[in-house]
Amino acid sequence: MQYVRFGNTDMTVSRLCLGGMMFSRKIDADGTRRVIDEALDCGVNFIDTAETYTDSEDYIGRALAGRREKVFLATKVYTRRAGEQVGRNSRANIELSLDRSLGQLRTDRIDLYQLHHPDAETPLDETLETLDRAIRSGKVRHVGVTNHYAWQCATMIERARARGFGAIVSIQCRCNILDRAVEMETVPMAQRFGLAMMPYAPLCGGMLTGKYERGGINRGNRAENDTKLQSLLTSDAAFDVIDQLRPIAAEHDVTLAQLAMLWLLAKPFVTTPILGGSKLEHFRPMYEIADRVMSGDVVKRIDEISSGFVHRRFENQPVKEGARL
Ligand SMILES: NC(=O)c1ccc[n+]([C@@H]2O[C@H](COP(=O)([O-])OP(=O)(O)OC[C@H]3O[C@@H](n4cnc5c(N)ncnc54)[C@H](OP(=O)(O)O)[C@@H]3O)[C@@H](O)[C@H]2O)c1
Repeated sequence: MQYVRFGNTDMTVSRLCLGGMMFSRKIDADGTRRVIDEALDCGVNFIDTAETYTDSEDYIGRALAGRREKVFLATKVYTRRAGEQVGRNSRANIELSLDRSLGQLRTDRIDLYQLHHPDAETPLDETLETLDRAIRSGKVRHVGVTNHYAWQCATMIERARARGFGAIVSIQCRCNILDRAVEMETVPMAQRFGLAMMPYAPLCGGMLTGKYERGGINRGNRAENDTKLQSLLTSDAAFDVIDQLRPIAAEHDVTLAQLAMLWLLAKPFVTTPILGGSKLEHFRPMYEIADRVMSGDVVKRIDEISSGFVHRRFENQPVKEGARL
């Protein structure tokens, strides 16, 4: 496993962050413990979850009993818990959610507390001041965002600086060989401000494992319920890319999924991709390639093959609400 400094922070994290979205949804409590055991054995020291991922926080908290200090823990806030009359990123909602997350995770500190989406209802200063208060109280070590436009991040960063509030240190966004729109705005912004960048959906929800066929759904897979994935299954452009990736994977003796992860790991703007999986066996193949480095020539070939996925409808947007800030 390789390690990297997390943006401008004091944290050194593994280059693979374990994603907890499927814990409790597709992986039960015992499975979660086994996935975490294996991750720790393979050198992972960073776990990402969210209060909205059903019972994921609870499962992780239980699995980490007695070994909490072995990992950096990241979670997110957005669910409306403090009533309909206050915004999701309001002081009331954040403080309630934060205490709940600390309880679920069975810890007194969250290492990275992230706004899951922007919230147009809440004044920015209220959100930033609340996050700052959480840092000062010791409940939160650093704060980050996910699914924000680059301009929203830049505004927040400058506002936090001007008011002397704790800094935004990271951004999570959808980023993989078939989702490259972030390269236009988000990546240059993250580099300009020294943000750590955490790509989620590194396998495009499973599409980049190569398990789907043109027009097919495949029962039991994520595409059964995921409309974005369903629309991709009718995209000849996406399957054309996958067809061109297959021989490259074979040439380098890796699976398509491993190739997709190696491409992300080779990108200088990527701090730590967030690893997903719905079965125990989905994780180990990624640890097996975590020390490999994809050559510049191969990265360039894949960049060219997938160049049609840079300029397209911008998708790294607030997916629920809050286009204004
Ligand atoms: N900030 C955000 O808004 C946000 C959004 C999404 C995710 N995330 C974070 O990012 C993490 C990863 O996201 P993701 O789950 O979308 O990642 P992903 O790697 O793009 O997709 C993972 C899914 O691909 C399929 N898969 C993976 N390996 C496979 C294999 N070897 N063979 C067959 N299928 C395989 C599984 O789905 P099926 O078996 O069900 O088909 C698995 O659940 C999450 O856990 C979460 O922590 C954050």
